[in-house]
Amino acid sequence: MRRPVIAGNWKCNLTSREAVALVQQLKASLDRPTVDVVVCPPFTALAAVASQLTNTSIALGAQDLFWEPQGAFTGEVSAPMLADLGCRYCIIGHSERRQSFGETDDRVHKKLRAALQHGLTPIVCVGETLKEREANRTFEVVRRQVQGALHGLSAKEVGALILAYEPVWAIGTGRNATPAQAQEAQAFIRRLLKDGWGAPVAEAVRIQYGGSVNASNALELLQQPDVDGALVGGASLNAEAFTAIVKSAAEAKLVTR
Ligand code: PGA
Repeated sequence: MRRPVIAGNWKCNLTSREAVALVQQLKASLDRPTVDVVVCPPFTALAAVASQLTNTSIALGAQDLFWEPQGAFTGEVSAPMLADLGCRYCIIGHSERRQSFGETDDRVHKKLRAALQHGLTPIVCVGETLKEREANRTFEVVRRQVQGALHGLSAKEVGALILAYEPVWAIGTGRNATPAQAQEAQAFIRRLLKDGWGAPVAEAVRIQYGGSVNASNALELLQQPDVDGALVGGASLNAEAFTAIVKSAAEAKLVTR
């Protein structure tokens, strides 16, 4: 069985002082969670949040990285730097980066390789825009993004990553995909993994759903067989809502230990 994973993407929010306050609330409300829990603060708050997370079961993630390990790349942050800070995960290819910061499938692929090389678990985001969905191009777009990100990776490498299906029209809009829409796209992603890397890998890889997940819709989404977790934006900034989503994941998948 795939262990559910709930990740909070704090995006460009919170000073380090605010981030520490949020993580302290989460530590109190998420006592020994039975699913994997990750928080992804902005770069500037990673060190402060890391110092709060020692000996807890909440893991640290970053929201992006640069593929070269070091050098003359002003403004960039590399995988070994993130690993050194205690990051275990890194979001890669978020649609906000694809839309506003020129992230291409090729760049996503390079970042993914760098993350794997330095022991970070990539959370690779894919998903279609509303226009693409309305033109019945969802599968085509998702296929291009998955293959563009993962091509050339070994079964072992693919087995080590997490995918997040995040339809762009559902992100930050309050309009989540229906459980059936999430399931359909995520079953499709699992089929792509099976065709490319074999059934055992496809069965092992966790696929999150992201896009307006909140305390009220999480359970139903997470009850879908191919929804193995959630990537949560807005609701992850609220300790109570994020805790409720983590609990929904445990309930949906009946994970008690
Ligand atoms: P949202 O964001 O939960 O605010 O829709 C999700 C995401 O961007 O990962």
